[in-house]
Amino acid sequence: SKGAYDSYMLKEIDEQPAVLRRIIQTYTNINGDINMSSELIERLIQSDRLYIVAAGTSYHAGLIGKSLFEQLTDIPVEVVLASEFGYHLPKLSAHPFFLFLSQSGETADSRQVLVKIKKQNYPSLTITNVADSTLSREADYTLLLHAGPEIAVASTKAYTAQIAVESLLAKFLGTAKKIEAARQFDVRQELSLAATGMQSMIDEKDYISKLAKKYFYNQRTAFFIGRGNGYYLSLEAALKLKEVSYLHAEGFAAGELKHGTIALIEQDTPVVAFVTEAKTADHTRSNVQEVLSRGAKVLIISQENLVHPNDQLTFPVISELLNPLVAIIPTQLFAYFTAKARGNNVDQPRNLAKSVTVE
Ligand code: F6R
Repeated sequence: SKGAYDSYMLKEIDEQPAVLRRIIQTYTNINGDINMSSELIERLIQSDRLYIVAAGTSYHAGLIGKSLFEQLTDIPVEVVLASEFGYHLPKLSAHPFFLFLSQSGETADSRQVLVKIKKQNYPSLTITNVADSTLSREADYTLLLHAGPEIAVASTKAYTAQIAVESLLAKFLGTAKKIEAARQFDVRQELSLAATGMQSMIDEKDYISKLAKKYFYNQRTAFFIGRGNGYYLSLEAALKLKEVSYLHAEGFAAGELKHGTIALIEQDTPVVAFVTEAKTADHTRSNVQEVLSRGAKVLIISQENLVHPNDQLTFPVISELLNPLVAIIPTQLFAYFTAKARGNNVDQPRNLAKSVTVE
């Protein structure tokens, strides 16, 4: 039940630090050992490329997963949209491994890919929130999100749970492969820092609601920009705003905006910039200057070590591989508050279904 909450979406946003702690407890022990099937790891070690197959928000969690797996395991990763991949199969590597990301485990677009790759005898893993779901039953292996039921149509806690479980799997696999970056990555510590960081953002709810009012309530369109994981975050932040607030929103790689889309920036167009990656922070700030000089109303979400005095939202430092867990929170809240202010049904947005069981 929603308890004291007016919507499942807000309840599920609030649950995220607790979900993260449950994932840490479920998958790790005090020595830092990771509790996952060693047979799964053996299969993964033999693969030369990981294909992450998903749709919507789960696809966006897969993009963050690409950074995690490539940096911690040295295995090249392709993240593919299930609806495209099923009918336009790219040339596969010699030893592909398929990872299906799906909150519901019922998405038809993903399932048709699973059916096809099983015919070729390729190994598969489903990461899902629903234990006896179709994708879970039909894949060779399953890892559960342990996020508790996600009722709101717009996915929030499943997104962060997917990133957390991907990070644990990447650490486990990278360690098994003796990759130095994996050895140095204290996933347990970083995930608990992320849980604390998430909470610090959630505690800023009143302030975030004021920002939502100032930046989004009276707008028709909004842009999100960032680089690396900040770009992937932008895609997810824009999707949330579209789904529940019915604002036209787009996520862009910060450097790409000037190659065309900057034509759409007018006086007071909101642009949210993620400054979450040290090596590209200055470049992203230059892109912010470009939109500012065209009249944009800019809101910056930055990590503490990269902060500038006028940034609107700042969160404590954690690994750049996992800071998306924290940086996404205010944008989930922007979508929620804007939808509420517009009188939308936050949990059941128009035209959407929780799980899409047609291709
Ligand atoms: C976004 C959303 C959808 C789902 C997508 C995949 O908030 O809910 O984009 O993420 O339909 O669903 P699952 O993860 O159940 O396969």
